[in-house]
Amino acid sequence: MNFDKKIDRRGSDSEKHNNLKEKFGSDDIIPMWVADMDFRSCKSVVKALKNRAQEGLYGYVYNDKSIYESIYKWQEKRYGWNVKKGSVFLANGVVSSIAFAIQAFTKEKDEIIIQTPVYHPFARVIKENGRKVSANSLKLTDERYEIDFKDLEKRAQKAKMLILCNPHNPTGRVFSQDELERIGQICIDNDILIISDEIHSDFVFDGKKHIPIASLSKQISKRTITLNAASKSFNVAGLMTSYVICENKKLEAIYKSYLKRFELCDNNIFGTVALRSAYESCEDWLDELVKYLQDNRDFACEFIKDHIPILDVKKPEATYLLWIDFRKLGLSPTKLEKFLVQKAKLGLNNGIIFGKEGKGFARMNLGTQRETVKEALANLKKAIDGFLAK
Ligand SMILES: Cc1ncc(COP(=O)(O)O)c(C=O)c1O
Repeated sequence: MNFDKKIDRRGSDSEKHNNLKEKFGSDDIIPMWVADMDFRSCKSVVKALKNRAQEGLYGYVYNDKSIYESIYKWQEKRYGWNVKKGSVFLANGVVSSIAFAIQAFTKEKDEIIIQTPVYHPFARVIKENGRKVSANSLKLTDERYEIDFKDLEKRAQKAKMLILCNPHNPTGRVFSQDELERIGQICIDNDILIISDEIHSDFVFDGKKHIPIASLSKQISKRTITLNAASKSFNVAGLMTSYVICENKKLEAIYKSYLKRFELCDNNIFGTVALRSAYESCEDWLDELVKYLQDNRDFACEFIKDHIPILDVKKPEATYLLWIDFRKLGLSPTKLEKFLVQKAKLGLNNGIIFGKEGKGFARMNLGTQRETVKEALANLKKAIDGFLAK
């Protein structure tokens, strides 16, 4: 796979590339916002999809056991988690699964903990479902973001659910076994349900290991619903397919009965084909990709350190997302976005959408060709040099 090969995604119904004018007020920018990648998926996935498309048979789906087998094998091989057989089912997306879990397991006005700054739809689905956000702010140290356990303990006394993001978007943290055990214990002590979004688990760098929180103990697993997908890892997010792992039959029954009320039990046939093929045939491709993304990360972090020292970045341990601290420029979120679009010609995610802790930050998507990363950072350097020269 040549990850360096540039691909023009305009005209391919890509959210990241369409409507830039509407979103950023300009088409003349490098889009590095929505978290998908500018790479073609693994060849085996493309072939499997082509074969299925050519059959011309796209009726309702009933998955045979092989898809679950491939998920068990993946979890076992990549993360050492021996998932209990019969505890996986497919879904149409991680965020919608979070929303259903909120509905199925909490009541209006219940408090739900998230660890901010965090992937912005978490707060949105909590609020849109009439629940309250309880924000356990991560603490930024000189090295990285850390969990404020004292604050978490306090919040846990009142909350009903924790939505964990591990690996964490946008900070790139991979929580350690010790951190996850402490989170698990707090949730056990306070009878909190854990919804663990592990969608970025395949993008872990520097030989670090992702640990599914439910794999730590039976006690934790009993109160955890894990959400994952092949969608980020193999760049097939448009197929709207994810999966749920729930080793507690009681929780599974409650969750599924909620889905049934809305007839939400069907899967997308192409999503199923892509997931199976990715997990069965594309592990080498993924390993190559992770190396490429790690090099992108290293390049970007070094560049910022050497050439734009007024900015700060903590090297992400995972994800292809770079969380950049622009606070020394002293710009409000609106002015920062305007500066990035108009002066640096970049479409990034404004940090403020991830929570108040994101004020003065922006998230840059490095899931793209190295040349694009270089071009984007050169633009950024030029814009900031101009800003500082004023
Ligand atoms: C942490 C996290 N969860 C979930 C999603 C989206 O998942 P889905 O498209 O399956 O809803 C993203 C996408 O950026 C993400 O970063």
